[in-house]
Amino acid sequence: KRVAILISGRGSNMVSVIEAAKAADYPAEIVLVLSNRPDAAGLARAAEAGIPTQAIDHKTFESRESFDAALDTALREAGTELVCLAGFMRIFSAGFVEAWAGRMINIHPSLLPLFRGAQTHEQALAAGVRLHGCTVHYVVPELDAGPIIAQAAVPVLAGDDADSLAARVIVQEHRLYPKALALVASGRAPLEGGRVAFATGQ
Ligand code: GRF
Repeated sequence: KRVAILISGRGSNMVSVIEAAKAADYPAEIVLVLSNRPDAAGLARAAEAGIPTQAIDHKTFESRESFDAALDTALREAGTELVCLAGFMRIFSAGFVEAWAGRMINIHPSLLPLFRGAQTHEQALAAGVRLHGCTVHYVVPELDAGPIIAQAAVPVLAGDDADSLAARVIVQEHRLYPKALALVASGRAPLEGGRVAFATGQ
C-alpha cells in the first residue's frame, strides 16, 4: 500500500514508520511526507531518509476547506492509498474525512476513549489513572473518537510528571504505530460499518 504521512512537528512517529517500512516484507511503502508547517523538523528527517516531502502552509489558505482541498490534491497526485497522521495538528473538514474514510489513521497519546484532545498526559495525571498509553484509530469527523485499531499501555508511577509520562508513552507509540499500520495495510483490520473488522486472531 502507498502511504502518506502527515506531520506538523518533530516527526518521531513518522521516523518509526519509515524505519519499519524499510523491511522487505512490510506491507506499506512511504511515498510522501507532508507537513502543514514548512518549518516542521520532521520534513528534514524524512528527506534524509530519501522520502519525497511537501509543505502546504495552512496559513496561506483562506478556509479550512481550501487547505483540505490542496492536501487532497497532493495526496492523490502521490498515488496515496492510506494516510497516517503523526502529530498532525490540524482539524479536518468533514468532507476531507469522508473522502478518506477507512483509509486514514491517527496515533493519539492516551488510552482512548479516555483523554481526547490535547495535554493527554496532564489529563491522565489529573484523573489519577494508574495505566496510560497510546491508541491508533481510524479517523472520523469527531476528534479522537474513531474505531480503535491498536493500543499499548504503560504504568503511571509515583512521582511522574507530564514529561516523564510522555517519555514512557512515546516509546510505546514508536512500537505501536508501525504494527498498526501493517495490520491496516495488509487488510487485517478493515473499517466496516463503523467498526474494525479484525481478521481472526488479530
Ligand atoms: C505524539 O505524541 C502523537 O501521539 C501526538 O503528537 C505527538 C507527535 O510526536 N499525536 P512526533 O511528532 O511523532 O514526534
